[in-house]
This record gives sequence, structure tokens and C-alpha cells, in this order.
Amino acid sequence: MEMDKLVALCRRRGFLFQSSEIYGGIKGFWDYGPLGVELKRNVREAWWRDMVTSHNHLVTPPDAPSPFEMTGLDTSIIMHPQVWKCAGHYDLFHDQMVDCRESKRRYRYDQLTGRWATAKGKRAFITSASSGDEALEEITPRAMKFFKLRAKNAEELSFETDLIPFPEIVEKGAPTSDEYGPDAEFVLGPDAKSLGTLTSPREFNLMFKTIVGALGGEEDAAFLRPETAQGIFVNFKNVLDSTRVKLPFGVAQIGKSFRNEITPRNFTFRSREFEQMEIEFFCHPAEAQKWYTYWRDRRFAWYSQLGLSSDKLILRDHTSDELSHYSCGTADVEYAFPFLPEGEYGELEGIANRGDFDLRSHSEGKLVREGNEFVVEKDERGKPRHRGSGKDLSYYNDETKERFVPHVIEPSAGADRATLAFLCEAYTEDEAPDEKGKMQTRTVMRFNPRIAPVKAAIFPLVKKDGMPEIAKDIFVALKQHYNVFYDEKGAVGRRYRRQDEIGTPLCITVDGDTLKDKMVTIRDRDTLEQTRVKIDDVLDEVRSKID
Ligand code: GAP
Repeated sequence: MEMDKLVALCRRRGFLFQSSEIYGGIKGFWDYGPLGVELKRNVREAWWRDMVTSHNHLVTPPDAPSPFEMTGLDTSIIMHPQVWKCAGHYDLFHDQMVDCRESKRRYRYDQLTGRWATAKGKRAFITSASSGDEALEEITPRAMKFFKLRAKNAEELSFETDLIPFPEIVEKGAPTSDEYGPDAEFVLGPDAKSLGTLTSPREFNLMFKTIVGALGGEEDAAFLRPETAQGIFVNFKNVLDSTRVKLPFGVAQIGKSFRNEITPRNFTFRSREFEQMEIEFFCHPAEAQKWYTYWRDRRFAWYSQLGLSSDKLILRDHTSDELSHYSCGTADVEYAFPFLPEGEYGELEGIANRGDFDLRSHSEGKLVREGNEFVVEKDERGKPRHRGSGKDLSYYNDETKERFVPHVIEPSAGADRATLAFLCEAYTEDEAPDEKGKMQTRTVMRFNPRIAPVKAAIFPLVKKDGMPEIAKDIFVALKQHYNVFYDEKGAVGRRYRRQDEIGTPLCITVDGDTLKDKMVTIRDRDTLEQTRVKIDDVLDEVRSKID
């Protein structure tokens, strides 16, 4: 599937628009249109329902170590700045960036790639901010231009290497890092015409800063949250004190998060404003590993149940050097997004065993790892580098009389990434007969019915003989339960196409026979099968296909 086609469909049919498009847009921000908002709500609602509201805490779910409880929260986007200091984001949430003095563009250091090229006795490392085939396609014409070669002299250009990550030549390869710097004379920046215009990598904090209140001094600075998780940790005691939950239990939250991503890209995949669906699952330390395995497998299965195909979905365990500062084990659910090179996958969700890092950090002060232990990080005077709240965030088990700080398993998903994966998976081109029975190419979004934005469309075959009246009655009856659509305009074949293109699973047509037999035709989007159903049974039929 070509990504351009999906992007065009999303705009044309109102799934996704660039934010502030009439002003030329703003990078990394997206608006969901009338259909997109329904699709994303359905994704969120499927998650909330499957993880929280339909959870039965009285039985042990399949493969779970024991029964458990689930509850929810909706916490604020702006929190006390100390939260981010103790959580580690203030010190550690950085990307390394390089700037180009010529093009004035900024790039993520770890995302630059390039090739060594030689021509006319000169040698240069031609970089690109793209990856895979796209980078390869860009680099050759740029090298030709740089060495002032015409097409007829193309054979004078030779590449010494395949694509290599830029940090590799800076850190390990030749020339050595000593030779690398602002005046390195061998690097051609991704958008530069002359060599040596990139700066050395610099740290750049990804949190958006804002000012709270009217005075506007540095002491009033706060941050837009870069993850929803911390709202759950700082409310751990409130949840315990205000409910009767007992360990093990999970707290779920859906909400916006903000990261000043250096290179927002690939449609909504890496945005600066996005939505997360996170669970913090609190358990006894001795059981953490079992719960980690349970959540990892359960969350992986959730995506396939909602329609992502198994050949595009993988579960990947992090290697030890990939682990975040808090993690004792992480696995990612990854999807083969069509904008990635063949064989590469993009993260949909991370499932992490965070140990007791967060609750202890918010209680004692920011922790650091020392060997296998987390200890409070100290400043040069031996005081905690970032002071915790001093509140006791431990748990008392009144049956075993044991007091301990729970460990946390965190399945952390992105609502926008999941929505994008469902859009990519759904996009299909196939053939279907038109009104005259001639096969035509059709674009069809094969959404799982649970997340399809419109569940059914109701058509009168023609706009006369009482058909619109019956169709409208059916529409009104269904509308009380589902998002359905009434359409009487144009040839019925064209109306089918319009619904296929937005992924409506069922089309219900009232025709001449309906007047006599009180039956309608229900057409299935995927099989194209048409069945006759009594008007009185339409709601049950829709229910059986959608829920
Ligand atoms: N609390 C842990 C945490 O936030 P993360 O891996 O940084 O972990 C979790 O983020 C999920 O949030 C990711 O798997 C992804 O689905 C989503 N996400 C993260 N950054 C994103 C971005 N810039 N744009 C869209 N989604 C993003």
C-alpha cells in the first residue's frame, strides 16, 4: 500500500487534516475530521471497555496469575514541576540534535544516515534525514549535484559504502570523532550545498515549557506532560484511600501528552501532541515478572483481535542497552507501517516492568540505578538531587501484615499510533461489480466493525414509491444505538462505493420488494454478500455483525 494514497483518502473523506491547514499547517500537529474523530473514539472506547469497564475482578482471566481489579483516572496535563524532576524527565528526557548553519534546519542526530561518495578526486559523506530506500534515492542526485556531474558522467561517481548511520562515522568510523565538529570538511548536511555546515550534537529537552499565572518568572515555569503515567503515580495514595482496591490492581488513563519531537514525521506516527492509553498495574514485587509476561501477551493479542494482521505485528523484547532509566524489562508491540522500509517495524505500545522506581522516586526523591539497586541520587552536598514528596507510598497487606512498595507493570499505548495502524491495515484496493455487473476497482477500508466510524448506511433504492419513508424509519431506529448514515443521492452503486471508502461494514437497501415483503437487503462490505432480512430483525442483524 502506498502511503500517499492513504494520506489523500484521509484528507478527502475527513479522517485527518493537517492542523491549522489554512495557514500552511504546523509540523507535528494533526486534526481528526468528522470520520477520524469517530474512528479514534472507537479505538479509545474499545481499549477502555476491554481493559477497564468489562473487566471482571471476581475471576482469574485466562493466563493471569490471579484475579485483579481495574480502575481509572483522568489527571491534569500540567502538574507540579517537581513531578518531572523526580520522574527523571527533567534530567533525562533529551534527544541529541545537530543544526545546519546553512539551511537553518535541525535534525535528530541518531536519525541522520549517509554514504561516503567519491568523484573528481574528492570525497564527501553525503547525509540524509530520511531512511532506507528513500535516503538512497535522495543521496545519488545530491552527490551528482555536489560534485557537479552531469548525467553523462554519472560513472565518475562512486560510493564507498552502503547507508551508514551518521553517529557511526562520528563515533567509530573514519574520520575519527576528533576530526568531527562544526568545521568538519567532509560532511554534506541533508539540505546543504556546501560541506561542514552541521554543528556538533547538542542536547534538547523534549518537554514543552509553559508559564503558570500572570507573573511569568522562571519560578512559574511548568511543563505539559510528556506521558500520562505520572498522573497515576502521584495519585496512588488517593486511589488507595478513596476506594477499597486491593493489590494487584491496575489504574488506566487516556489523555493527551506533548513532546517537542525534533523530527515529527510519518503522518501522525511521531507527533508533538498525541494521546496515550496507559495502565499502571501495581503488584507485589515477587509477582512482577509474572504480571509483566501476562500484560505483554495480553496487549499484543488486543491488536490482532481488532484486526491487525499477524504477519505485520511483532512483539520485540528490548535489549539491556535499550532499556529506559526506570525499566527492569520492556517489550514493544510493533507494526510494519507501510512508510517504513521492508523488514522494519514501528512501536505501537511499550510494556515495561518499572519496578518500584516511580513510587519510591515520588516518595524519597529521584532515584538512580547503582548496580541492581535504585538509590536516591545525591547532589554535590550529599542531599537528594531532586526531593520527593516525603509521603509514604507503600502498601499494607492487612491479611499477610506485610508492608512494601508495590512494583509496577506499565502497558503504554498510543491512541494515534493505534488509529494509524488500523487505517494502514484497513486500506485495500480490490474489484467489485458496478450496477451493470462490470468489475471495477474499488477502495475499501476494511476496519474491524467495532472501530468502523459508521456502522451501517441506509439507502432507498430510488427516491419514490414510499421507499425513502421506510428507509428513514430504519435509520431513526438504528441511530439510537449506532452511528449510521442515511443516503438517497445518486446511483446505488455509487452510494456503496462511498461507504466502502470509509469502511462502513453494512449497507441496508430498501427496494421495490420491501413494499410487499417488508424485507430489506443487507450488503456486507467485505464479502459483498447480500441477504434479505425482515425490517423488524434489522437491529438484531446489525448488532450481531457489529458488537
Ligand atoms: N509512560 C511510558 C511512555 O510514555 P513511550 O514509549 O515514550 O512510553 C508510549 O510512549 C507510547 O506513546 C508509544 O508506544 C507510542 O504509541 C506513543 N507515543 C510516544 N511518542 C509519540 C509521538 N511523538 N507521537 C505519537 N505517539 C507517541
